[in-house]
Amino acid sequence: MARIFSGIQPSGELHIGNYLGAVKNWVALQREAESLFCIVDYHAITIPFEPAQLRARRREMAVGLLAAGIDPARASLFVQSDVPEHTELAWIFNTITPLGELERQVQFKEKSQRQESVNAGILNYPVLQAADILLYRADTVPVGEDQVQHLELSRVIARRWNNQFSPDADFFPEPRALLTPTRRIMGLDGQAKMSKSLGNTIALLEPRDSIWAKLRPAVTDPKRIKRTDPGTPEVCNIYHLHKAFSPPATVEHVAVQCSTAGWGCIDCKKVLAESIETELVPIRSRAERLAAEPGLVEDALATGAARAKVLAAETIHGVRERMGFA
Ligand code: AMP
Ligand code: TRP
Repeated sequence: MARIFSGIQPSGELHIGNYLGAVKNWVALQREAESLFCIVDYHAITIPFEPAQLRARRREMAVGLLAAGIDPARASLFVQSDVPEHTELAWIFNTITPLGELERQVQFKEKSQRQESVNAGILNYPVLQAADILLYRADTVPVGEDQVQHLELSRVIARRWNNQFSPDADFFPEPRALLTPTRRIMGLDGQAKMSKSLGNTIALLEPRDSIWAKLRPAVTDPKRIKRTDPGTPEVCNIYHLHKAFSPPATVEHVAVQCSTAGWGCIDCKKVLAESIETELVPIRSRAERLAAEPGLVEDALATGAARAKVLAAETIHGVRERMGFA
């Protein structure tokens, strides 16, 4: 594992889906390898946005990531638009990417169906993503399952550019997605992936009472109607959240209590709320400290961008040379 890169959109709140699917893994990986984590604000403007909100959300995301445990002494945390080479490389990659491959991306199809008019940025979104990763010649990309197709395209782009412009020795590595056991967290509606745009999330910095207000009515095993009906843990979203948050012995106990109707769903949710609390308490207290000392966030982002810029300049130099610009 040579170099790790991952990105997250400045959507404002970090939720437990982002956390379990990706960010928790970033925190673990920053100890093992050179790591870069990027708040991708150029990606965020592919859908309608307010400039003031973009500014606020970028900051809020930085606070969330630092609170989650990203350590600026170990990893480079930075904002995409602070390193303009991302868009330079994206332009170059656009010129070697067939339109058909972009039109086939599932996320493009989903997003473009939701918009009245579709801008070219939504189509080219995964090309910018490939540029993000390859600008640092990163080979490992810890993400949730929804990003696997985009990563596959990044590999194709790396391969195609290498074949065309660096045939003797691969300049770009082919990056791989690194998934966690909790690669796809469902929302509290139990219907769709947890996602801010669907309003089915628990935020990472959400207070205890507010978490319980959402957990209490959350969907469980749909076949378990009466308190005395035995449940099937594997079909229950709450059980899956136990697997993400509770210690193994508790998870086993939950499965037995559910399938024998020893516990009702509320009993089970109370135990889950405690496990979530245990995980989130230190994160919340780090966030409080960052709120009290705002300079820490700015410093972390400035240091991160300075490190990223050095690597980005090296890559762009190599690209320009091989393509006849220099
Ligand atoms: P986004 O907020 O869409 O920029 O996603 C940031 C990271 O969180 C990406 O690696 C996603 O794959 C991951 N992610 C987002 N939602 C979920 C989810 N519900 N379950 C697991 N991973 C997720
Ligand atoms: N598309 C990713 C998401 O929505 C965010 C992202 C942008 C990203 N660039 C990246 C993820 C590079 C990994 C690597 O989650």
